[in-house]
Amino acid sequence: MLLAIPNVLTAEQIAESRRIIEAAEWVDGRITAGHQGTHVKRNQQLRPECPSARQVGETIVKALTANPLFLSSALPLYIMPPMFNRYADGQVFGTHVDGAMRLMPNGQRIRTDISCTLFLAAPEEYDGGELVVRDTYGSKSVKLPAGHAILYPSTSLHQVTPVTRGARLCSFFWVQSMIRDDARRALLFDMDVAIQRLAAEHPTNPSVIQLTGVYHNLLRQWTEV
Ligand code: NI
Repeated sequence: MLLAIPNVLTAEQIAESRRIIEAAEWVDGRITAGHQGTHVKRNQQLRPECPSARQVGETIVKALTANPLFLSSALPLYIMPPMFNRYADGQVFGTHVDGAMRLMPNGQRIRTDISCTLFLAAPEEYDGGELVVRDTYGSKSVKLPAGHAILYPSTSLHQVTPVTRGARLCSFFWVQSMIRDDARRALLFDMDVAIQRLAAEHPTNPSVIQLTGVYHNLLRQWTEV
């Protein structure tokens, strides 16, 4: 499931986040690339341990964990501390698949079920820089307003097209979901959306309770924690 989460950050949070990270030290993005990534990755990143990255990362995680659409669609168990990248001057990240496991700063390993990109620059600020995600229905090109995030299955092949004008500034991170399988997670999300709508329109309908029970019992069946 490819899902946009609008307005994760407010305009004020974006401006403040950019002020902090733009003043930090940017390094070659290959520092965090795996074997496959080093050949196709050309960008800049903040070091994961950089205090500016940590500070803005905390703002992002706080905003996400208060966002009902994110919680309902990702069903997060662990969220990797957000990292930051910048593409300019033709920089690019060729087609790749994200590594299955990542090491958290506390030494814990997390499985990457969902890949997330949070856009910090407005689309008008740069040309190119589309995130292209390939799935069974074909390729989808994504370029969202600043403050919006895109979630996509970490199993998918994806790329960032060359940035030919301006700079593309994003945060990126991974989620280990309580539900490993993307199809099951998508079913639960659809069901949650339908229940919420039914509950809003017909709050006393007994089906609301019954369907809520089905939702939670499916979650109990499928959750891996
Ligand atoms: Ni990737």
